[in-house]
Parts: sequence; C-alpha cells; structure tokens
Amino acid sequence: MVRLNGLTRYPSLEPDIQGRPWFRIGPRIRALTSEGGSGCGGRVAELCGEVSRSLRETGALLVKDPRCPAEDNDRFIDMMEKYFDSPSDFKLLHERPHLHYQEDAVIAISSTVNLTIKLVYPLVGVTPEGVEVPRSLVDEEMKEKLKAMPEKNRPSPPKGPDCKWRYMWRVGPRPLNTRFKELNAEPVIPEGFPEWKDTMDSWGYKMISAIEVVAEMAAIGFGLPKDAFTSLMKQGPHLLAPTGSDLRRYGQEGTVFAGYHYDLNFLTIHGRSRFPGLNIWLRNGQKVEVKVPVGCLLIQTGKEIEWLTGGDCIAGMHEVVVTSRTTDAIRQASEQNRSLWRVSSTLFAHIASDAVLKPLGHFAESPLANNYPALCAGEFVEKELAVINLKG
Ligand SMILES: [Fe+2]
Repeated sequence: MVRLNGLTRYPSLEPDIQGRPWFRIGPRIRALTSEGGSGCGGRVAELCGEVSRSLRETGALLVKDPRCPAEDNDRFIDMMEKYFDSPSDFKLLHERPHLHYQEDAVIAISSTVNLTIKLVYPLVGVTPEGVEVPRSLVDEEMKEKLKAMPEKNRPSPPKGPDCKWRYMWRVGPRPLNTRFKELNAEPVIPEGFPEWKDTMDSWGYKMISAIEVVAEMAAIGFGLPKDAFTSLMKQGPHLLAPTGSDLRRYGQEGTVFAGYHYDLNFLTIHGRSRFPGLNIWLRNGQKVEVKVPVGCLLIQTGKEIEWLTGGDCIAGMHEVVVTSRTTDAIRQASEQNRSLWRVSSTLFAHIASDAVLKPLGHFAESPLANNYPALCAGEFVEKELAVINLKG
C-alpha cells in the first residue's frame, strides 16, 4: 500500500494490468476531487495524474469504490444468471424489434465480390447470441492491422458473430428535447423478476457514480477543468448492458465471446465477472489478460474519450475468450453446482447525444486534432453503428 499523505493507492493482491495499482475512490478523494484537485497541496493532482496515465497507457483502470460493494455486484450477477438461464423462448419475449435501427452494409469479400448483409441494432431489451458482430470481422483496415501483429499479441480469431446474449437497460434521466430520440428508448422489464428494476437501476446508478469520479479525476489529470467530461455526460444514453455466455455449450478453450473490438462510448465499467477471460491491449500493442481483484471495478476507455482528448487517450482494444483460467473456473463452478452462465456487469457511459464531441481545451491544439472533427455524440454513435452490429 502506498500512502500519498492521506490518500491511498493499493497494489493489487494479484497481478492485474501490468502490476498497476488499483485506486480506492473513497469519500476523501471524492471530496478533494470535487474541489478541483487543487486541495491537499497538489497531492490529489498527483493521484489524478496517475488515473489519466493509466487510461492513456493501458486503456484501463482498476478502482474500488465503497459505494459499489462486491455484494451488490453479486446480487446483480445472481439475478442475471437466473435470467439468462431461462428458456430462450422466454428471453426472446424481451426483444424489441421495433426499437431497432436497420440498414444494409456491404462487405468486400474480394476485389470482385461484395456481400450485402442486413445490420440490426437493438436499443433496449434482449439481444440473442449470434447477432453482435466483432469489428475485427467486418473492418478491413482492422483486419490488415491484425495480420501485421506479432503472434503472441494477436487476438483470437472470431469465426462469426459473438456467441453471447446481451440485455440492454438504460440508466439515468433522458433529455426532454433531443435530436436523437431513438437512442433514448424506454426499458423492458421481464415478467417474474419483481426485483428487476431496482436491481438494474441501483447497480447502474452506483457504477455511473464511480465513473463520474474517475471522469473528474481523469479530466484533472489531463489538464482540463474537472467537469470537462462530466458536464457532457449529463443525460447521456448510459446503458447497463450485461452479457450472458453459456459456458455449458461454449466452454471450450479458444471460444470467442466478444471478438477484438473497441467500445464506441466514453468509458465502460464492469464489476468483477465470476469467470475470467478478458484480454486488453496496452497502448504499446501488448496483449494482457486482466485480473480484477474481488470488490474492484474495471474501467475501459471508449472512442468518445479518444475524440475528446484528440487521440491522446485512445479507445482500448479488448476481447473476451475462453482461456485456461476460464476452464479452471468452469470446473470449480461445476463442482460447487454453481451457474455456468458467464455474466458481465457491463455499463457503457456515454456523452449526451446532443453534446458536441471535439478535442477539449489544449487537446484542440494537438497535431492529431484534425482527425477528430466536431460532431454531435448522437451522430457519432450512428456512424459507428454502420460498421458494427451493435453498440459498445
Ligand atoms: Fe467491449
């Protein structure tokens, strides 16, 4: 444990992201951050600098927020395991086909053959397995980059759409007037789950609170006003989007649950999953298996923070695959008669749809700023959805 005059950072109990510490964002750091980082003789600024450095260099950050206890994550995962374990016919009642975007996409198979596919983008409710398409499967530029990677850092090759279910639940207030109504669709509640709304909202709000502190600390660390990011997040289409992967059917090592991709939102946050399998790529291209300590939350950078920092902090690439650690966990769960659904408690925090995405403050002067022209966040999300099959 390293003490910075009353503020604490903790080395993890086990290796996590390149041996980096995780940060406890307790009441004291929250209070000092909300004062703008100038209090406590600049020591808050030092801690904020570490937060922004971790996001910049690894695309990820581990935090422990006492407002998001492990028991709450467990309650959420218990409910989602029960839901995903329901019969497919029941789960399919929660699809919302009329709340889809739909468009055709043309994929060049060769120089002479094009394949046209129908892309469908669910906005709320459930999405069955086999619908989300990893970007690495459709993005030609990304495919070329993958070929050039050294083998040890190369992502697991997806063979088709991701084999995971996803449930989408909007969290937080919606704007009354917006140009992007379709991004702000009403939530769907499955029958037989009286605790659904409370559990989803409570865990969702708690994780957003943790993201807000990290966003303030990161802003200070990047040399921006502390509310540079959080002011743009207000009334954003934040999405709690847990996934469910059936390890009884897809528990073989090498199976890809989420092919190599980046998230298009601002920051993504997850509680600890009961089954490991997340790999991330550091800025230097190194592939790292993430180990989230008990009670910690993992935060990852998305494309919107890349836009706002003019490419100083880039969207973190990641994948979820069945590894040998996953199969160990499967064996253990089977022995203990526990659920074999791998649930991720993912929340995508977004910039508000009507807010303008552009490099902020001194990032506007960066030589890379021209790569990030100003546009509404809602418009940006729609453009990204033309490449992948789903959001985030
Ligand atoms: Fe992702």
